[in-house]
Amino acid sequence: MYLTKNEQKMLDGEEGYAVKKSMEILVALGNIYGAEKLIEVGSVQVAGVSYHNLGDAGLEFLNELAKDGKVKVLTTLNPAGMDLENWQNLGIDPEFARKQNLVIEAFSKMGIIVSCTCTPYLIGNLPRYGEHVAWSESSAVTFANSVIGAKTNREGGPSALAAAFVGKTPYYGLHLDENRVPDIHVEVTTDLAKFSDWGALGYCIGTQAPAKIPYITGIKDANVDVLKTFCASVVTFGSKPLFYMQGITPASEKYSPPNGKITIDASNLKEAYDAINDETEDIDFVCIGCPHASIKEISQIANLLKSKKISPNTEFWVATSRPAKQLSDKRGYTKIIEDAGAKFACDTCMAVAPLKGRFRAIATTSAKGCYYSRHNKMLTKMGSLEQCIEAGVSGKWN
Ligand code: F3S
Repeated sequence: MYLTKNEQKMLDGEEGYAVKKSMEILVALGNIYGAEKLIEVGSVQVAGVSYHNLGDAGLEFLNELAKDGKVKVLTTLNPAGMDLENWQNLGIDPEFARKQNLVIEAFSKMGIIVSCTCTPYLIGNLPRYGEHVAWSESSAVTFANSVIGAKTNREGGPSALAAAFVGKTPYYGLHLDENRVPDIHVEVTTDLAKFSDWGALGYCIGTQAPAKIPYITGIKDANVDVLKTFCASVVTFGSKPLFYMQGITPASEKYSPPNGKITIDASNLKEAYDAINDETEDIDFVCIGCPHASIKEISQIANLLKSKKISPNTEFWVATSRPAKQLSDKRGYTKIIEDAGAKFACDTCMAVAPLKGRFRAIATTSAKGCYYSRHNKMLTKMGSLEQCIEAGVSGKWN
């Protein structure tokens, strides 16, 4: 890979340890994928923040980099393993909290914004159409590429961090227009009536067109909330982190539907629900906000929880970003939600918090949430927000 004089100096260690290490990572990646050069990025989103996933080895790696590493571009963080301000209320072990705080300290020292959300585009890390960025977190990467029309590969935590210290990323993969061409036409012939239908659709496309870039037709309307849940699902279950939706995503106008076609109808959606949902009636955990709930979703939760009480046998989390929670506090939604017995889980989520063995069965609106909850050994139920609220109140899935 071609390096400028300045990049070569960084690789030689003239800007210190963190930049040298980062250049080594970027050059190795660039050589593996045949990148001709590095390109500048407008922002970075770093995943791999939960101590649950990092462990002591990850913490040590971050502390080494934090000694002299400072990010060169706007850099935000994915969810951590706990609510950084209210972890006791979520039943987090104090020793875990101590280690998680050390991880956050290391990131903070590097100049990273401790946003701890998988929806950076809702809290100020919003690239422009066509801008090159280096993001990790699969749902955010898919949102950036598809809904915003920015350009990013699906970075891992270390490669995203390396891009932040250098301000550049290798020019390969989805940074190149030739790799962004849709290669399968997906015609959707069914209505997507409930929010969770979008997760089911992502499951259908991901499993039927794995590793493809779908060009989706037949969808009349979609708001940001359904698009973010669709992004999370389609990439989790198999597709590349890029799709086009005719008339909805900005770059869809550049292309026409490709030749090979699959159709998704109501029976496919039903099959998706059958695959995602386990046999269980009892629910002891409800989590809404995968990806993190927007202020609009929080308002909907508050409306549905008004004058209701969550069952004493059920834990109910609203996973969201700190800024969305602060808006919710001001608007009075937080009080309604907490009066009902539900809890806010800011900065974290059901996948990265240490939940294994704590709950038996989860209800959620998110297909991706179900996928990761199964990894945490939970039975899963996916349904509408109304169904999930009902499950929280009764402790039963209806
Ligand atoms: Fe976000 Fe966690 Fe879901 S990172 S997309 S809330 S699994």
